[in-house]
Amino acid sequence: MTADGLRRLFGRFFADRGHVVLPSAGLIPHHPAAPLFTNAGMNQFLPYFLGEEPAPYARVTTAQKCVRVMGKHDDIENIGRSKRHLTFFEMLGNFSFGDYFKPGAIAYAWELITEGFGFDPGRLWVTVHESDHEALDLWLELSDVPRERIQKMGADNFWEMGETGPCGPCSEIYFDKGPAYGRDGGPAHGSDERFAEFWNLVFMQYDRQADGSLPPLPKQNIDTGAGFERCLCLVQNVDSVFDTDLLVPLVTAAQEVTGVPLGRSPELDTSLRILADHARSMTFLINDGVFPSNEDRGYVLRRIIRRAVRRAYSSMGVQRMVTATMVDAVVAQMAPAYPELAKNADYVKTVVEREEASFRQTLDRGLNLLETAISAGATQVGGDVAFQLHDTFGFPIEVTREVAAERGITVDQAGFHAAMAEQRRRAQESARKGDASQNPNVDAYRSLLDHYGPTVFVGDGDEAATVAATVLGVLPGQDTSHVELVLDTTPFYAEGGGQVGDTGGISTETGLARVVGTTRGAPGLTRHVAVMERGTITPGQEAQATIDKERRDAIRRNHTGTHLLHWALREVLGQHVKQQGSLVAPDELRFDFSHFSAMTAAEVAKVEELVNAEVLTNSRVEVREMSRAEAERAGAVAFFGEKYGDVVRVLDAGPHSRELCGGTHVRALGQIGPLKIVKEESVASNTRRVYALTGLGALRRVHDEEATLARAAGLLKAQPEEVPERIESLLSQRKALDEELRLFRTKVATAEASTLAAAAVDGAVVARRDGFDPDGLRALAQAVRAADPGLRAVVLMGSPDGQRVSLVASVRPGEVAADLLKDAAKAVGGGAGGKGDLAQAGGRDAAGLDAALEAVNVLLGLDGA
Ligand code: SER
Repeated sequence: MTADGLRRLFGRFFADRGHVVLPSAGLIPHHPAAPLFTNAGMNQFLPYFLGEEPAPYARVTTAQKCVRVMGKHDDIENIGRSKRHLTFFEMLGNFSFGDYFKPGAIAYAWELITEGFGFDPGRLWVTVHESDHEALDLWLELSDVPRERIQKMGADNFWEMGETGPCGPCSEIYFDKGPAYGRDGGPAHGSDERFAEFWNLVFMQYDRQADGSLPPLPKQNIDTGAGFERCLCLVQNVDSVFDTDLLVPLVTAAQEVTGVPLGRSPELDTSLRILADHARSMTFLINDGVFPSNEDRGYVLRRIIRRAVRRAYSSMGVQRMVTATMVDAVVAQMAPAYPELAKNADYVKTVVEREEASFRQTLDRGLNLLETAISAGATQVGGDVAFQLHDTFGFPIEVTREVAAERGITVDQAGFHAAMAEQRRRAQESARKGDASQNPNVDAYRSLLDHYGPTVFVGDGDEAATVAATVLGVLPGQDTSHVELVLDTTPFYAEGGGQVGDTGGISTETGLARVVGTTRGAPGLTRHVAVMERGTITPGQEAQATIDKERRDAIRRNHTGTHLLHWALREVLGQHVKQQGSLVAPDELRFDFSHFSAMTAAEVAKVEELVNAEVLTNSRVEVREMSRAEAERAGAVAFFGEKYGDVVRVLDAGPHSRELCGGTHVRALGQIGPLKIVKEESVASNTRRVYALTGLGALRRVHDEEATLARAAGLLKAQPEEVPERIESLLSQRKALDEELRLFRTKVATAEASTLAAAAVDGAVVARRDGFDPDGLRALAQAVRAADPGLRAVVLMGSPDGQRVSLVASVRPGEVAADLLKDAAKAVGGGAGGKGDLAQAGGRDAAGLDAALEAVNVLLGLDGA
């Protein structure tokens, strides 16, 4: 039976028994309680297990893509050495949401493996949780497994998704591969390779809490997971998952791309299997929207790619790039079951290739550093070295650890983490120093909050710009010219989520303050930073708080514009585009996002076109408050770095853009006016930044550019559309003139050369000539020698620009010209070397030229005249 056949058989078996066949969910789970990556078939059904939503079907079956790296279930260290572990694998499962329970799960499993898979019942073993007598009795009742092949286990038979979340006792099914594979004694006491676990039936009924307690789930459910590759291995009766028809082509591809055949050494075989396995995880992760980076999922992906590259490069000695070829092999193998792979193949290859190329740039130097550290006889790689490898050479700590382990030594992990923490502390400290929010009023803010509760924000939109409020606090500012005002209610938006704070005025009967900035003094407390224009303001007074409405409107346009831009960038560049930060100010917006290369002019134009087309729909901008879980299910994109509480604001800006956002926005997209991208640049590796303008600002920019063009056209006495052509023709004229000038200079130099040669003293020419660049000066020296080949030395020096110095010496064939320049070069702050009869040198200090001439004269035995 082939891999595809087995996948189909499983699905059909459960479909015939009332299960709905659902597709695999992506590797990035959506539920807030889910782990970093989809690690089991049950992840996508969390809302049903937890009772947050009614399950649309009572019985479901899937073949689910899974990745187990990081977190509670992490298999990466076993890869290549074990016969059954993979970082990426598929899990076949059947699920019951409050429908059948233990008897159903056990009876189905037994029927499928004995009749469907055709396993010999005599080789099957079962384990149950030590407390689960019911499951044990059911196995005896519903299957042919004898009592002696049912074993009780503890924690191993209690499956949990993560540190918290759905869990329950489970029952696992094992296949005895026979004495050749190791010790007898059943799954509980025998060898792991001999007793191959291939199916886990979880009786999902508890919800593990952070405090360790286990309240029951609303219903009793079934979650089973059969390792697809493991089953395949048993069905095809092969030794390891890497010998199945699913993975053999990948191991073959790994042999081809590395030129290393299987069987050379156990360690090289492990490397080949690592390449095959990691190729699958990197391909699927990128396909599902993960992008290599230094945090979260991106870091795991980076670690997988770099681990594979390091293996190929240093363990197998492969110079050429390997990952893209491996991705091709994965796509060829897996696309029939996952057709989107074929569609995304080029993109996936670009991402892995770039990551490989960038790691290869530092790999050599990093390995050298590590080599030096190891060969110094250390028993451990120091934490500082591991940190430098990570920080400067891009070595994931796991890769460092792996290289060290190959040499039988360890890495000082604690030292590494301490160095990381120290770097983070320094970064935070310098951020704090520059952060005005650390101010002596902190206690005052806290007590205001305790007394009056959070500041009420009104005026998110078209309401009046002026709001009546009560002054709660008047505190000293950062310097004597500022005060800080706290109100009960305010129309001022406090800086946050990339949006700048409002400005405006606060007035009472006795005074007027000009608000120059608004930030948060503490979470929930708005701090108006102000300059007193007249009189005084005291706590308890009634106040009128007025924002600068025009400025706010400009900010709103830019903020909603940022959302449209984010959406359009993802449409045009791909779903890997993720916001990395933003600045929404009145005069412009700035948006940072993950992407690996500069945007082309066509991409910029396409993004502008999409955004402006959205603006033209003039759709309403809608804000809704909902729970975080609801928002994530609704597919809202969360803005980077924002902290959201349990209730979040979801903003729909037109039909396409949906994001979590706490900022202020226009009411309808038409209010944004035109949006124009004015600059695109790199801010960090794989991070781009665009600047854009909206409203009249965008129009003004176009006017400015038109004016610049008109000015250029005026200077060229041409029409604007003729400007490029005219510049081209000017440039070619200039090239011709340059050439003419060069010829002229040569002529002058030849004439000068004869003069210099004629003035030789004692067979040597030593002279200062300024205004020549090094090439010009050398040409002159050669011309002097040509004018009089009998000269014993020609030494010229001078400064092209009044500061730098160039020196040249020409001597008779067989002699060493540089010897004449050594002292002279020193005198002008430079050095000279070389062996030939023509030498050049440079210096930085034209003031030393006289001394330099003198030095040459002395060497040549001239009197310096
Ligand atoms: N969730 C269980 C597992 O991953 C069964 O599907 O093993």
